[in-house]
Amino acid sequence: MRTLIKYTVSVSLLVVLFFHPPLLAKQAAVAMPDSYSSDTARAILEQGGNAIDAAIAAQFVLAVTLPEAGNIGGGGFMLIQKDGKGDFIDYRETAPAAAHRDMYLDEKGNVIDNMSVYGIHASGVPGSVAGMWLAHQKHGSLEWKTLVDPAVKLAEDGFIVHPKLASSIQKYISRMQKKSIKVNFADYFSDAKANKTFKQPELAATLKRIRDNGKAGFYEGETAKIIATFMKQHGGIISEQDLKDYQAKSRMPIKGHWRGFEVLTSPPPSSGGIAILQWLKMYDLAKPTGPLEHNSTRYVHILAEVGKRVFADRAEYLGDPDFYDVPKTALLADDYLAKRATGIRNDVISTTENIKPGLHESEQTTHFSIIDQWGNAVANTTTINLSFGSGVVVSGAGFILNDEMDDFSAKPGVMNVFGALGGEANEIQPHKRMLSSMTPTILLQDNKVKMVTGSPGGTTIISSVYESILNAVEFNMSAEQVVNSPRFHHQLWPKNVIRHHKGLEPKVIKALEKMGYKLDERHFGDMHVIINKDGKLDAASEESGRGKAMVFDTLNSSN
Ligand code: GLY
Repeated sequence: MRTLIKYTVSVSLLVVLFFHPPLLAKQAAVAMPDSYSSDTARAILEQGGNAIDAAIAAQFVLAVTLPEAGNIGGGGFMLIQKDGKGDFIDYRETAPAAAHRDMYLDEKGNVIDNMSVYGIHASGVPGSVAGMWLAHQKHGSLEWKTLVDPAVKLAEDGFIVHPKLASSIQKYISRMQKKSIKVNFADYFSDAKANKTFKQPELAATLKRIRDNGKAGFYEGETAKIIATFMKQHGGIISEQDLKDYQAKSRMPIKGHWRGFEVLTSPPPSSGGIAILQWLKMYDLAKPTGPLEHNSTRYVHILAEVGKRVFADRAEYLGDPDFYDVPKTALLADDYLAKRATGIRNDVISTTENIKPGLHESEQTTHFSIIDQWGNAVANTTTINLSFGSGVVVSGAGFILNDEMDDFSAKPGVMNVFGALGGEANEIQPHKRMLSSMTPTILLQDNKVKMVTGSPGGTTIISSVYESILNAVEFNMSAEQVVNSPRFHHQLWPKNVIRHHKGLEPKVIKALEKMGYKLDERHFGDMHVIINKDGKLDAASEESGRGKAMVFDTLNSSN
């Protein structure tokens, strides 16, 4: 139970109860990637803020305390269920105006190694501040300043560096040195030592401008000038106009029905919502009647077979819906999925090369989940792509820029850093959003929130999310079991490779290898999940990370 700390009403709240007419205590829960974001989200809920307020405050805190992924130099998706209605805030990065389809190819048409992954050319126009601003304008209840202030304080006064963070920073610096990649990351982060206070004065000044001027504090004025000047000095292409033009968007979440639940999930430019619904539905069509044992050979195999088909569709049909007509309805049609699932056999691996798109004949991201005292929920996944993004810190503004351009398809048939393929649907165009796997998801029953889930991990996000749902629904697991049981992932390419966590049974591994799979043990994801079981909340953060989940009673339930 290291990561699950349950609180009941605190002593100060009991005093309030004694002197005032009784208010109704209502449960709330947070499951967050670190203790700073967790404590901040809880404090905002206890001040009477709603789940969206708590999410915005946590997002800014993570920009200070989780430099691997928490960000203002990146983007993400926030899925919201508020007052019985769903909303999806898309704050994914966009390609700068000067970007073009072949920008990562050399004169022979080959992809230039690492250019979309590290350094000044790897970044899309950041979306996080605009996303938080839009979420606040539409759904916030506390003042903007109140929500940005905790992050300002942590940047200015410093925070205590977790040993796991200190170790990731040192490993990253050594890796950059070994690969001879020249980025300025070490200039900013080499002083972050385990259990010591780490201050970020430039970031604090940037956050103050955001606190005082809202969205304009990032996309216009001094911050925009600093970013654009830095870009020019180093040969980058993000301009002041790109920043001014950036718009976060509110989109209709995808809604699918599965086993009596309404699955509220992420629409394109996420590939994840369509993918998890295809995965869950095809699993039901392909599995033998009767229960399958959790993480048994057959269970892993059938889900890997489904994964082959899901990822073939992903590569062909999914991209930014503002640029490419994504056939959403066709990809989720029951008769299409029924046809697609035929051919899945219980005991034989399908030939990878024969799995085509069906309609015609990493990694670092972070996720958190919040349910407030009114039953509203936020599932938020946010990223600068790989751990520490492009490795480039904007000098004078103190934040790391993303390397999200690698999520575009640089060339048809060439895998990106996550092994994902793509074509026209996800080719680079100015102002276009790159395809994502981030899949914040909420399960509803009778319009009440039953589960809030999501994960980091590049393309493995999709597996983490659908498996978390199966763990909770099919195997009736607690939140702690859901996040900590070993997961696995297959995505068509590399051929017949199943990536999996430690803990898959040796006899299952042997049996899968005998079938022809190659097993690759590597951890992925850092899940933060909340489950509502018969009105009682249960929250957990994955043990391998540095997250903190809490279920607590709050008396402040008037809004
Ligand atoms: N950068 C990882 C993703 O959005 O899928």
